[in-house]
Amino acid sequence: MTSAGPSRRRFLRLAGLGAGAALGARGLAGVVGAPAVRPAAARGRRGARAAQDDALSIALSAVVEPAQLRPGPPTTVWRYRAAVTAGDPARLQALDGPFPGPVLRLRPGMRFTADFTNGLREDTTVHWHGLNVPWTMDGHPTMPVAPGDSRRYDFEVRNAPGLYWFHPHAHMRTGPQVYRGLVGLFIVEEGAGDPRLAALPADLVELPLVVQDRTLDDVNALVYTQSMMGFLGDDLWVNGRERYAAAVAARAHRLRILNGSNHRILKLGWRDGAPVTVIGTDGGLLEAPVEKPYVMLGPAERIELLADFRGLPPGAARTLDSLAFRDDSMAVAGALWPQGGPRQVATFTVAGDAPPAGGRVYLPVGYSGARVGSADFAPAPALAAAVCRPAGRAAQGIPADRTIVLRLERGQFTLNGRTFEADAVAEDEIVTLGAEEVWAFVNAGAGLGPGPGMMMAGPHVMHLHLVRFRVVERTTDGRHAEAYATVSAGLVDEGWKDTVLVMPGETVKVRATFGDYTGLYLYHCHMLEHEDQGMMRNFRVVE
Ligand code: C2O
Ligand code: CU
Ligand code: CU
Repeated sequence: MTSAGPSRRRFLRLAGLGAGAALGARGLAGVVGAPAVRPAAARGRRGARAAQDDALSIALSAVVEPAQLRPGPPTTVWRYRAAVTAGDPARLQALDGPFPGPVLRLRPGMRFTADFTNGLREDTTVHWHGLNVPWTMDGHPTMPVAPGDSRRYDFEVRNAPGLYWFHPHAHMRTGPQVYRGLVGLFIVEEGAGDPRLAALPADLVELPLVVQDRTLDDVNALVYTQSMMGFLGDDLWVNGRERYAAAVAARAHRLRILNGSNHRILKLGWRDGAPVTVIGTDGGLLEAPVEKPYVMLGPAERIELLADFRGLPPGAARTLDSLAFRDDSMAVAGALWPQGGPRQVATFTVAGDAPPAGGRVYLPVGYSGARVGSADFAPAPALAAAVCRPAGRAAQGIPADRTIVLRLERGQFTLNGRTFEADAVAEDEIVTLGAEEVWAFVNAGAGLGPGPGMMMAGPHVMHLHLVRFRVVERTTDGRHAEAYATVSAGLVDEGWKDTVLVMPGETVKVRATFGDYTGLYLYHCHMLEHEDQGMMRNFRVVE
């Protein structure tokens, strides 16, 4: 019995999630009084305890429970509940909405332990997306946690500071489990001495945004159909809130955005036409901000934007949209809102100068307290050797160590003609520990040349476990030039990535160093219906 009794009540109380999250679904509702999401290091009461802040242990469970997403009947969601069992409770936080969540905040080098209990009625696992962990801790589908069972995930945080996340990786069930709400954020915090932070406006305010498309029926139940072509929801939700609107201070904001959708690609741009200032990607802050007219964000990708509300009078508002684009994919049956259709993402209305009271997302990122010195900023040891290389968008013909062809064959999306097979690894999927390799992802659609194959083309979003990579080259075969022109200016290749959008007809080459662990890891399309249908393979890292 995992989802009832004293331990569950304790989760609810300690995590402070869920209560008070009843929303007016329109307007500036749901913001004030939401739990804080802020750098744990910014807490005042550290002192003597700071010395012990080198580990965080949580009890984590996946539960089924009601959430008030809209007026009317509550919606049954599947979500994570967490409570800190050892370490600083401020390292566990919530988003400013009813679900998903929670938000964990750690620093490089910390020990992290999650004692996970499966309160669902089906197998699940927990995968730490983007984190460099031993393979037995990676949530591989061959290591399921049965209903009612528990499993300990335990690892050292070796990643560079950045916005990572966690979600189920159950065999053929990742799509429905994520869709119903099993998504949490795992933030690795910068030290106050990080020069990239120093280059940004002071008193930067942080706002994590999990963007997801969802369909609710007329009794507020989540609608999902497991289709090979992907599932597209008919409205956009941010932090579990429909038509997300936030009251903000007239300050500079760091918008830390996860596209938590199953299949939906976002094309983020300001409604007022201002350029988008990108300060970070999957693997953390860029060396320097870059401006784009808009940015593309596929499922599982993260982007960090600088939104500057300084100097705006109270009542002034800025709106972030997902803009129209073409992806040349076959329409998803029954989707009321097609891929590439425009939609509002979020509205930010200036409510004054000062951060509103009530403790929310308003604390300067990187605020140090006495404890954190510049020595705190060091790349995680494992990554120190992997120097940032300039992304070579202009480069052509970089030799690839491996080529992965993404194709639709015999009614299935495949990787080099193969689909997922439990723990099987092919000869050409074995990688040597420490090797630096270039992998080429070739989106070949359903064959070459025009004809019906063209109709079955579509984007994919390729993700490698274990590593972070740089995009070193993009080329297109020209068959989808018109569609490509609607997205290409928003492809952000400047930073570290673990997931990359590969448009139809496109070849994307990425360079990664395969450390720190040997073992069995996954690479796959992160469009979750593609993944669940087998567009996923293992690679094995060997000594
Ligand atoms: Cu987001 Cu295989 O994972
Ligand atoms: Cu992953
Ligand atoms: Cu795909």
